[in-house]
Amino acid sequence: MKTGLIVALDIDDPAEAVALAGELGERVSAFKVGSQLFTRGGPAVIDAIRHAGGEVFLDLKFHDIPNTVRKAVESITDRGIAFFTVHASGGSEMIRVAKEAAGDARVLAVTVLTSLNSDDAAQIGFSLPLEKQVLRLARLARDSGADGVVCSPLEVSKLRGALDNDCILVTPGIRPAGLASDDQARIATPAEAAHSGADYIVVGRPIVKAEDRITAVDSILSELR
Ligand code: C5P
Repeated sequence: MKTGLIVALDIDDPAEAVALAGELGERVSAFKVGSQLFTRGGPAVIDAIRHAGGEVFLDLKFHDIPNTVRKAVESITDRGIAFFTVHASGGSEMIRVAKEAAGDARVLAVTVLTSLNSDDAAQIGFSLPLEKQVLRLARLARDSGADGVVCSPLEVSKLRGALDNDCILVTPGIRPAGLASDDQARIATPAEAAHSGADYIVVGRPIVKAEDRITAVDSILSELR
């Protein structure tokens, strides 16, 4: 199986983000536009990345009543995005309507934010151990029509075993060997993530902050092969 590379455009300046998308072009499977970039650049940034030849992964993690999520999804899918995210904890009906409104875009569900530890989870009121909560939400998402799940690289092989083979697994928290982990705690190398069965890895700072971004991308791609 071939693991694709998604580059997280966590950049304040939309023009710089679009220029980077143009520079990296077809080397990468998609560019992740999250709330940092979207709240500054708006939908125009999606159009500009598409115009520069990139696919877009819109990571706005929708989590609202089903009707509101449907309307939000309808307003973005006609722009030709490839993937977008919802919170699995929004519930079955919310995920189902997101999928219904998605058109050709694939719906990815976020289970438990990896920034939460077990104390945080208990504080919120999750009664299950975190690992079980992740699995429960991943199954709920898949049963409700989500095309895949975003998970930590350390969860990939377990989810790959527990979910059907067509379920798309996307993992951030990737650091090429020898690089700073930044604020990522549970990390894996691109090769490890590929070996665990990830369909796509998401990489931000190791590429965005690299002196030579093309070399950084090429070296990650060679690790994935
Ligand atoms: O810079 P870095 O490679 O750590 O960026 C990873 C990207 O993936 C960021 O956009 C971050 O918000 C996102 N992400 C993550 N962990 C999650 C979900 C998303 O790091 N569990």
